[in-house]
Amino acid sequence: MEEQVIRKTELAELIRAAVRAREGSYCPYSGFAVGAALQAKDGSIFTGCNIENAAFSPTCCAERVAFFKAVSGGVTEFERIVVVGGRKDGDMEKTTPCGVCLQVMLEFCDPETFEVISARTEKEYEVRRLTELLPYGFKL
Ligand code: THU
Repeated sequence: MEEQVIRKTELAELIRAAVRAREGSYCPYSGFAVGAALQAKDGSIFTGCNIENAAFSPTCCAERVAFFKAVSGGVTEFERIVVVGGRKDGDMEKTTPCGVCLQVMLEFCDPETFEVISARTEKEYEVRRLTELLPYGFKL
């Protein structure tokens, strides 16, 4: 029981970090701003936002920005990621990672335990395991 309360508090903190990260979103083309907060196994948190491009395909999702920041700094073991997204000046909408980001997650995370959390507010969120979202991802 106590453990659950502690876990909830930590999750709220992670959701707040994702909401803050979303403020950095560069999304002049879609108008859809996304933030992500990735928690590593050592407890550290890496954030990201989506960064778009006039040529469209160079656009990078918030989740990948968070992963690449972590991995480029030598952190490669992760527990969970929170994603928040919505129209730039609107409310948060349910946002689930795209297939490319799921494939990046699969490279570094145990799909049976890694949690992908789509949040709308600190209290409204859905938790899924990576394996549910990408059951047949590519592995070498
Ligand atoms: N996007 C993300 O950053 N993460 C997601 O989980 C879904 C989509 C971005 C990509 C693009 O900049 C915008 O949202 C609209 O697709």
